[in-house]
Amino acid sequence: MKKLLDVLSEKMGQVFEQAGFDRAGGKVSLSNRADLCEYQCNGALSLAKQCHKNPMEIAEAVGKLLVGDVFTDVSIAKPGFLNFNLSPEFLKGFVQEMADSEKFGLPAPEKEKMIIVDYGGPNVAKPLHVGHLRAAVIGESIKRILRYAGHRVVGDIHMGDWGLQMGLIISELKERNPALPYFDDSFLGEYPEEAPFTISELEEIYPAASAKSKEDAAFKEKAMEATKKLQDGVRGYRALWQKIIDISVADLKKNYDKLKVDFDLWNGESTVHNEIAGMVQYLKDGGYAYMSDGALVVDVAREDDKKPIPPCMVLKSDGAALYNTTDLATLLVRKREYHPDLIVYVVDKRQELYFEQVFRCAKKTGLTEEKTELKFIGFGTMNGPDGKPFKTREGGVMRLERLIAEIEAQVKSEGREPDDVLSGDAPGSSATEKIALAALKYGDLSNQATKDYCFDMKKFTSFEGDTGPYLLYTIVRIKSILRKYGKDAPTALRTPEAAGEKALFRALTGFLPAMEYAERELAPHRLCAYAYELANAFNSFYHETRILSEEDSTKRDGYIALASLCKEVLEQVIDLLGFEAPEQM
Ligand code: ARG
Repeated sequence: MKKLLDVLSEKMGQVFEQAGFDRAGGKVSLSNRADLCEYQCNGALSLAKQCHKNPMEIAEAVGKLLVGDVFTDVSIAKPGFLNFNLSPEFLKGFVQEMADSEKFGLPAPEKEKMIIVDYGGPNVAKPLHVGHLRAAVIGESIKRILRYAGHRVVGDIHMGDWGLQMGLIISELKERNPALPYFDDSFLGEYPEEAPFTISELEEIYPAASAKSKEDAAFKEKAMEATKKLQDGVRGYRALWQKIIDISVADLKKNYDKLKVDFDLWNGESTVHNEIAGMVQYLKDGGYAYMSDGALVVDVAREDDKKPIPPCMVLKSDGAALYNTTDLATLLVRKREYHPDLIVYVVDKRQELYFEQVFRCAKKTGLTEEKTELKFIGFGTMNGPDGKPFKTREGGVMRLERLIAEIEAQVKSEGREPDDVLSGDAPGSSATEKIALAALKYGDLSNQATKDYCFDMKKFTSFEGDTGPYLLYTIVRIKSILRKYGKDAPTALRTPEAAGEKALFRALTGFLPAMEYAERELAPHRLCAYAYELANAFNSFYHETRILSEEDSTKRDGYIALASLCKEVLEQVIDLLGFEAPEQM
């Protein structure tokens, strides 16, 4: 379906033409004086110069021809605005068509694109902390939006599992337990089934090793050697590394499950290791890469650069692969396996320059196809109430698990304790958990991704205002009405009469433009704003309308159909944001 404003603009354009003016003048927009009218057209003003006429004259000529089956209550305001409302019958027809269409009339894309969303990006052996929360939450929503819009989308977690961090862990393990068979070069037998550490030990080892490497140059040297040995394929190092991956991935999966974030590909930096030698050769043969201070680099600066863009490093001076190397090789593999039209990277905005270098390098050297658009969606920091990056009360790095547990506790403590047993929601996704997830995700997604935002527990979990729980509350309210209604909800809408009812119809028409914008700009926050607007429109309607107690049964059925459609749209939108509503709350 076309968006309502486009349909109206087309009709208005025809009238402009009929009156002897350019149809381009017919552009209709939402009224910016909602107290005066629902829609407006400023075409008379923009055409005035071109046709040497007074805008008032043009507006009046057009206004006279506007007929009541679409445009009603037409009035002309100085210096030439056409103000009007929509015929309720016409509005009903439009919303009914939405209700009867698949995806509420969202048109299929002109061309189905192959899209990879690279998001999450956790580092193995490090606890998942809030720094990675935004990547997961925003990336998941972008993936769902693109998929719903009709594209073929693959989500890839792109774990950090290959660089110096692995060498650090391995070296620390070696210092603590040198007798492990992994460090014995002469050991040829099978390595033990069981990993020589638990996830909590692993999570303690990494920060310890990382701190040590900053003070102890010899240790850092060893870690770099270990990294090289791992990347060169030393058997014991590879086996130990695999244990680290297995233990970490199991833990990551648990965490992402809880966040309702799921990946199609669990690839990592290591996945492309075998591509690196060939890629490096290709870059050298093509004359792209050259040695600079011992490292292998590709120039990516351009003449018109406003700020200096340093060369993209492909190999470090010790020959080890680095973050860039694996990202470039990943692009090569993605080209070969998917021929993507678009790759979206959802990563901390502080990595913007890095990605600029990688993208330029890949484009320049043909590691990625001409047609492949590479897009960086950089997100800001989640801050605490003090305006500094979010920490635990004790000042440490906040683990995601703990944050979620704290939000759940807050939801329960609000004196609104949702009765998880009665609510009919399965354990593992109880009402409390659903509310907490909505609070967390909506709190994040309702901000433009690039902006930093402040995590405000009280505000995010509130059932009132621009929050996730408020949306759930609205959906649950409709669910309850539908339950009491007792039969399947009818689908035939009725022509709106009251102001609140009509406003709800108009709010429903906002779905298509919101989706279009969210897809084009990869902007979940636009859907948040839309969901909030729709929920508000429903609640106003609810407060001014006796729905279930309406005696006229056709009227009542019409109300129910409207409420039910509203619920479907809201549920669809929150699904695109990555959370869902409980049965009761
Ligand atoms: N692991 C990285 C980090 O923690 C994020 C990975 C982002 N994705 C990518 N293709 N580089 O900073």
